[in-house]
Amino acid sequence: MFDLTGKIALVTGAASGIGEAAAKTLAAANAFVYVCDLNEANGARVAAEIGAGKAEFLKLNVAEKAECEQAANKVLSEKSKLDVLVNNAGIGHVGTILETDEADLDKLFAVNVRGVFSLTKAFLPQMIERKKGSIINTASIGGVVAIKDRLAYCTTKFAVVGLTKSLALDHAKQGIRVNCICPGRVETPFVKQRISEYPDPQKAYAEMAATQANGRMGTPEEIAASILYLASDESAFVTGSALIIDGGFSVGK
Ligand SMILES: NC(=O)c1ccc[n+]([C@@H]2O[C@H](COP(=O)([O-])OP(=O)(O)OC[C@H]3O[C@@H](n4cnc5c(N)ncnc54)[C@H](O)[C@@H]3O)[C@@H](O)[C@H]2O)c1
Repeated sequence: MFDLTGKIALVTGAASGIGEAAAKTLAAANAFVYVCDLNEANGARVAAEIGAGKAEFLKLNVAEKAECEQAANKVLSEKSKLDVLVNNAGIGHVGTILETDEADLDKLFAVNVRGVFSLTKAFLPQMIERKKGSIINTASIGGVVAIKDRLAYCTTKFAVVGLTKSLALDHAKQGIRVNCICPGRVETPFVKQRISEYPDPQKAYAEMAATQANGRMGTPEEIAASILYLASDESAFVTGSALIIDGGFSVGK
């Protein structure tokens, strides 16, 4: 089950957290994986840990349209196709609207939304030509329900859900599937960094764990498993979905 032999995948934000786990999980299912990230040292480490001939690091800032186009040119000239695109790179911001300025909002949109837009646009024509492709976007449970003090973050993640559904509808008849995942809190460097910024990090950790109905944060591997499912042909009838993987964060209080 979930055998990706012969498939070429690309994961953004793959130097850390959910993206790192996704790159390793897809490679373990025999996909060749382009490990894409801004962070060269960690990206190269992840590619090396996966192994030569199974993965390659590609430096990519998804907020730069030209870099997205260059990445697509490189991948398509080297491998002639891309089967699985995982738009996972994302950044956070804490604050209400009164604690968020236009520059914060623009910065989050550039990475979290426009990054997904530009990289998808760069790869989509080739996928349409082959009538095959699975695109998986990392949204968030903050793209399904509001999270307190996360105005800019939630705004961008709701946009990722909308972008996912629009893409899925427009290209369903061309053999393209587009889905997003909506994780609850996952223990990654992204979350650890946020926790360290609180006056009492231990209390903040306990409070964040408690926001899940099951009382704990998820692991990157638990999220990567859903990316593997959406990448595989076993999910052939799934498109336009926003898959909630949140330990019960959003079921009710
Ligand atoms: N951790 C969580 O609790 C959680 C929950 C829901 C959704 N998410 C989403 O999951 C995704 C991954 O989060 P994570 O927790 O693994 O974060 P992380 O900070 O551990 O990893 C994110 C990676 O993205 C890279 N990155 C940042 N900006 C980039 C850019 N412009 N271009 C290319 N790479 C860039 C970083 O260098 C880093 O390696 C994000 O989209 C985040 O919003 C995380």
